[in-house]
Amino acid sequence: AEELSLRPQLLKQYIGQHNAKENLSIFIEAAKMRNEALDHVLLYGPPGLGKTTMAQIIANEMGVQFKQTSGPAIERSGDLAAILSSLEVGDVLFIDEIHRLPRAVEEILYPGMEDFCLDIVIGQGPSARSVQLDLPPFTLIGATTRAGLLSAPLRDRFGVLSRLEFYEVVDLCAIVERTAEIFQVEIDKAAALEMARRSRGTPRIANRLLKRVRDISQVKGETSISIETTQKALQMLQVDQEGLDHIDHKLLLAMMDGFKGGPVGLDTIAASIGEESQTIEDVYEPYLLQQGFIQRTPRGRLVTPKAYAHFEREVPEA
Ligand code: ADE
Repeated sequence: AEELSLRPQLLKQYIGQHNAKENLSIFIEAAKMRNEALDHVLLYGPPGLGKTTMAQIIANEMGVQFKQTSGPAIERSGDLAAILSSLEVGDVLFIDEIHRLPRAVEEILYPGMEDFCLDIVIGQGPSARSVQLDLPPFTLIGATTRAGLLSAPLRDRFGVLSRLEFYEVVDLCAIVERTAEIFQVEIDKAAALEMARRSRGTPRIANRLLKRVRDISQVKGETSISIETTQKALQMLQVDQEGLDHIDHKLLLAMMDGFKGGPVGLDTIAASIGEESQTIEDVYEPYLLQQGFIQRTPRGRLVTPKAYAHFEREVPEA
């Protein structure tokens, strides 16, 4: 229940993502005025920025049911047909990791999205027949880490494309303070700010840090979470001054030590540190790129002077 109530329920409770929020609030209001289902929405951006939360809020604001599934969970077209035929007028169907829908399933989705109609094949061989079922108008909300992972025909069927960005420190600080209030713990401003600064622009990370710091603070018997406890906890969790973690370090050090800072291909880096290429690309790289620790070039990834400075190293000669 704690986890559930952590999520804001309404747009006005949702902190940050000002651009996405402003646009969505207008589209929601207009759809409600016309008494129509909201157009299909694609939410994209790095993990932990609140895509699922935003989808739930959209359903709440529209006053409709929220149904949730994910790309990998839908294996056969029959699975999707079952979900689609259970929808009621205006409902939100949220498909997380929508880029991982099997191709055959994706093709069922096209007429569903476009014409609210379901083409299903009954039987096999010569006696097989195709039947069409009408669906109620509904809103598909898809979530993915990068819009470019979707096939063009799927991407083109979303009327609203909304990119979630890394959060500003002030917004993350407000999120930490809000979560602390829900946990009913006091937190010093400096402590909240430190967690915000060191959570890689990501509320999920900020809230996770808060939970661990709260544990330590509680065991120490503090009446309010202090900056000292926060510093200590972050050190224990191997989160550095810039919020980089153990894997960020492994990645940057491997590029500096093994490949002279690059350029080096993603798959080569992945193999050298034993992580999946996709995980590096979706989870680790976006923040390192945004903060300017690495750059993408046509010949591969490159460590920047900022990264060398972070590790107090000299930039090697070309
Ligand atoms: N908790 C996690 N993310 C949040 C957000 N964006 N706004 C409010 N509370 C949150």
